[in-house]
Amino acid sequence: MTVDLVVMGLGHVGLPLARAAVSAGLATAGYDVSGTVVSGLAEGRSHVGGVCDSEVAAMLDAGFRATADPAVLDGAQTVVICVPTGLTPEGLPDLSAVQDASRVVAARLRTGMLVVLESTSYPGTTEDVVRPLLEHGSGLRAGEDFHLAYSPQRIDPGNEIWDVRNTPKVVSGCTALCAKYATAFYGRFVDHLVLARGTREAEMAKLLENTYRYVNIALVDEVALFCHQAGIDVWDVLHCAASKPFGFAPFSPGPGVGGHCIPVDPRYLAARAESQGFPFRMLAAAHEVLTHMPRHVVDRALSLLTENRGRPEGARALLLGVTYKADVADVRESPARPVAAGLLATGVDVFYHDPYAADFSVDDRSLPRATDLREALGEADVAILLQHHACYARETLGRARCAVLDTRGKAAGSRVTLL
Ligand SMILES: NC(=O)c1ccc[n+]([C@@H]2O[C@H](COP(=O)([O-])OP(=O)(O)OC[C@H]3O[C@@H](n4cnc5c(N)ncnc54)[C@H](O)[C@@H]3O)[C@@H](O)[C@H]2O)c1
Repeated sequence: MTVDLVVMGLGHVGLPLARAAVSAGLATAGYDVSGTVVSGLAEGRSHVGGVCDSEVAAMLDAGFRATADPAVLDGAQTVVICVPTGLTPEGLPDLSAVQDASRVVAARLRTGMLVVLESTSYPGTTEDVVRPLLEHGSGLRAGEDFHLAYSPQRIDPGNEIWDVRNTPKVVSGCTALCAKYATAFYGRFVDHLVLARGTREAEMAKLLENTYRYVNIALVDEVALFCHQAGIDVWDVLHCAASKPFGFAPFSPGPGVGGHCIPVDPRYLAARAESQGFPFRMLAAAHEVLTHMPRHVVDRALSLLTENRGRPEGARALLLGVTYKADVADVRESPARPVAAGLLATGVDVFYHDPYAADFSVDDRSLPRATDLREALGEADVAILLQHHACYARETLGRARCAVLDTRGKAAGSRVTLL
């Protein structure tokens, strides 16, 4: 059976994309190298927050199938690559999954096919990395025999308003004709498309979007550090500044940034700039502030413990919310890890509460999990609110008998200390 679309990489980006395409009536298949992902989906189980099991079941009913067999690419009209783009142990862009996926496509490429890269990467990836692999592996030419495009994903985990269909999508092609094919494809299930001048502009636009968040979060974090030192209430400062109806976009301080995008994507930009002899000073400064924030949280918690018990060693610290984002089941790059590691290194016993994380480990050490919030607050010497999940009601935190260090500015009460 041939399909309209094969989505390569069925993770946080690929699965919602496949769901949107299936809903629009496209004959869609998914290709993933993970046997666990493929078998889970085949059994109607979703491994991605925001896509529920019943939606996977509906996709299967509509003809969707997931496979680890590259033969699924044979005869596909369009292939969209949504594989991970992480960092190497040295902190450099790791494009191995994009390269592997490109080689798999190259072996099955045929005249007239549209290939789109959606993975986030530095400007030049589509033209300088993907294109040569596709052309050498297939003997076909992009822009002449097949169409090659780049269209970054803007999925916002946990966002119930903006989804694949109603979020404007940037589209670009290696040639004007490539862009035309890509626009026609996305136009079948995305309401509003924005045409970029070329693939480099689209790649750079995605990096700018995430770098903008990165730098602005670092800015409010540093404002919070200064306000703490100067005895100024940063949350009131933010409340006042955010009342300006123009020229100010509000960001909130916190324990540091996490997830697979915000801490990673600016590294792609910095590494690319460095390789071209361009020192990206804003990124270096933001990186320094953001990597310091977990340490700041640890120091504030240790001071509270010292104030209340004389010494922090042997105290019990409860981490509330260990995922990287509120009400999202994803612990990748979570700042909860360096916070826990810093407390453990000082001899504090650390346990956690998080309805979204069944287990959580730090340096291969699994942290004890509490499932009853009130009970856990009763057992702790200090509770540290890291992510404001909906279950952390203001009143519950305000009534806690232990000290509460609130890094999100959400709690109030005599025992609550704000970041
Ligand atoms: N998660 C987000 O919120 C988000 C938002 C925008 C952009 N992005 C970008 O989208 C891309 C994908 O991110 P994600 O969060 O969906 O990753 P993910 O880890 O959730 O999913 C990636 C999937 O790709 C599969 N995979 C790995 N190598 C493969 C290969 N060679 N061939 C086929 N499948 C392969 C993995 O098994 C996994 O199922 C990244 O570049 C990321 O930066 C992510």
